[in-house]
Amino acid sequence: MSMKRILSVATIATMAVALGACSGDGAGGQTSTPPEGGGSAGESKTVGVAMPEQTLERWQADGAAVTQGLEAAGYAVDLQFAGNDIPTQQEQIDQMITKGVDVLILASIDGASLSTQLDAAEASGIPVIAYDRLLTGSPNVDFYVTFDNFAVGQQQGTSLLAGLGVLDAEGEATGEEGPFMVELFAGSPDDNNAKFFFDGAMSVLQPYIDSGVLDVASGQTDFGQVAIQGWDQAKAQSRMDDLLTSTYQQEQIQGILAANDALARGAITALQGGGYGLEDIPVVTGQDAELASAKWIAEGWQYSSIFKDTRKLADTAVDSATVLLEGGEPEPNDTETYDNGMKVVPSYLLESDVVTAENLSALLVDSGYYSQSEVDSGSSD
Ligand code: BGC
Repeated sequence: MSMKRILSVATIATMAVALGACSGDGAGGQTSTPPEGGGSAGESKTVGVAMPEQTLERWQADGAAVTQGLEAAGYAVDLQFAGNDIPTQQEQIDQMITKGVDVLILASIDGASLSTQLDAAEASGIPVIAYDRLLTGSPNVDFYVTFDNFAVGQQQGTSLLAGLGVLDAEGEATGEEGPFMVELFAGSPDDNNAKFFFDGAMSVLQPYIDSGVLDVASGQTDFGQVAIQGWDQAKAQSRMDDLLTSTYQQEQIQGILAANDALARGAITALQGGGYGLEDIPVVTGQDAELASAKWIAEGWQYSSIFKDTRKLADTAVDSATVLLEGGEPEPNDTETYDNGMKVVPSYLLESDVVTAENLSALLVDSGYYSQSEVDSGSSD
């Protein structure tokens, strides 16, 4: 992506934040017309883009980057954020269909909640791209663009082990036997990704739990026991508070598998409240490389995150939308993994990177994703 394009994304991201600030429940949106002199392909075509919420930086960045890419290709964009409220998202998509958008790009709140909208889209001949999260229980999904979610989980599990010293930098076992006291925090049960992340992480961690190198002292190792509804940071904090009281009065906790940065920060905040400092904070994983977490990684409060470059996901969505608008079929690189209950949805999976204090500047700053001052302050310039 050119620097000009990055700057433009940043400008739209700021716009999206400003829009978000105006609406109390975090729902809202913007509609654009194609910029004058924009691409020729999309004359008078509009793309409806539905994002789940905008309290997490990643969805703001996704919304901004998708909008920027579509506008650059000459399309108008109807971008909506639903404040993590399912009826709001359903209504937003209903309106997009009524207005006659030409393609839908949908990042759902609950992947199973949009079947009525998908049926209506099908009836109106509107192709649908599932964005980041799979849309389930409906045959009316044309394409899925996402990261390799199982691999993200594997990276999280491997990173937890590396932080504890069980694996070395090359991923080889060091012979360190522990036992290390750890706890697990998974994502929202209504998000199809959450189970993929958890299964990926457990594929790495389970052998070490079985052999006693890792000790999940609470005994809570099932997805259903550790999933945090709505990926809610406050709920993660409160679960960690409870664990400190129930399980860690005498023993120190040494590691936490947190499925994303919001959960990581919730757990870390509880630990700080419970008296943990930089010298004994556990190894905590994350996901999204959010600014607040990037700052904490640089400072040593959070051990790692997973960087999923939303610019690349947005580019893939825009390219796929363009192919669909031209009557073609986007080229998948995975046609096996994402069975949504009605069909295996052809998918394009992107790769992610583990971020730690060592490579944070190279991955996040040198690539132009953030400025150094944003990382230093933990918030957008
Ligand atoms: C996304 C993550 C995000 C989480 C919470 C998941 O579906 O893949 O990047 O942290 O939702 O919004």
